[in-house]
Amino acid sequence: PVGLADAMMQRGREFVGFALTIRNDSAELSVQSNTYEEDFNSVTPENDMKWEVTEPQRNVFNFNGSDKIVQFATSRGYEIHCHNLVWHSQLPPWIAAGNFSNATLISIMENHIKNLAGRYADVCTRWDVVNEALNEDGTYRSSPWFNTIGEAFLPIAFKFAAQYSPKSKLYYNDYNLEYNGNKTVGAKRIVDLIKSYGVRIDGVGLQAHLTTEPTPSSGGGVTPSQDTLETVLKGFTKKGVSVVYTELDERLVVPATKAKLEIQKQTFKTVAASCLAVKGCVGITLWGVSDKYSWIPGVFAGEGAALVWDENFQKKPAYYGMLEGIQKG
Ligand code: G3I
Repeated sequence: PVGLADAMMQRGREFVGFALTIRNDSAELSVQSNTYEEDFNSVTPENDMKWEVTEPQRNVFNFNGSDKIVQFATSRGYEIHCHNLVWHSQLPPWIAAGNFSNATLISIMENHIKNLAGRYADVCTRWDVVNEALNEDGTYRSSPWFNTIGEAFLPIAFKFAAQYSPKSKLYYNDYNLEYNGNKTVGAKRIVDLIKSYGVRIDGVGLQAHLTTEPTPSSGGGVTPSQDTLETVLKGFTKKGVSVVYTELDERLVVPATKAKLEIQKQTFKTVAASCLAVKGCVGITLWGVSDKYSWIPGVFAGEGAALVWDENFQKKPAYYGMLEGIQKG
């Protein structure tokens, strides 16, 4: 049978990927490496390129985990969507505690990007250069970067990424951009801001952490319609940047019932179809492969079952929904 990535390539798009954490689980590995059905041709490191892992102390770098990810991907001929360079979360304590001046913080950012993005300049197809800079209302989130440097931290980060990883496509990545609300407006403002500095930005990543139903963690939100999704995607592509669904999953209040899994199937179909309907949507990454290892139950108690392989690595209805959305969308 034709797999997800295969189908995506047949439609002239670039990739289907998954968030990769390397574990010793042969069942997981057989899905991740499924070359028979070719479900995947890209990975995003789930945690191994984050700041607290790669530069736990100032100017002390640790690339053990990230090197393994790169080895995993390149040995299979997969692309790597590298994640991420500048974020408020998973920062090592020395940054928050440092109370650095503007100039020092910029030099810290440059040194990090030089060492991390520079090391992987030949293998990162895309980089999430700045991750999650926005509040839900579209204003900038408080972070060491914004609080010290102001909004200029965004073009500065992209400038360093372009300098040290010139071949990578450079992305702004955030969640809840799918609803076409104030946060979506904020992300469009970010694209304009970076360009206004004469700096390159190539794309916007929509994380797409969705819910089948209003859950305690979703603030009452439900899945946006295909129309809304297409409007959002086109809002970015009209500005001359590509779009990617970077962290797709759809959680629900467990246990998963047949009815919930059917809604989930429709969502994966809708999301895939929205991507195929917009020319500048180049790919989709799932935030994991199996429900067994998803980040969700650990963060949102009582929720989960968000991916397209179940805990026993069997394909869920959502898998077939996604495939259908890619093939017919
Ligand atoms: O590695 C340690 C381990 O040594 C320790 O025993 C254990 C105890 O809690 O923690 C382990 O680290 C955890 C790490 O995942 C690896 O499993 C961290 O506590 C945990 O916070 C971390 O969670 C990650 C989360 O980002 C952190 O914000 C999730 O795996 C990862 O899926 C999630 O991914 C984010 C994206 O980067 C950005 N967008 C949202 C997305 C979901 O939150």
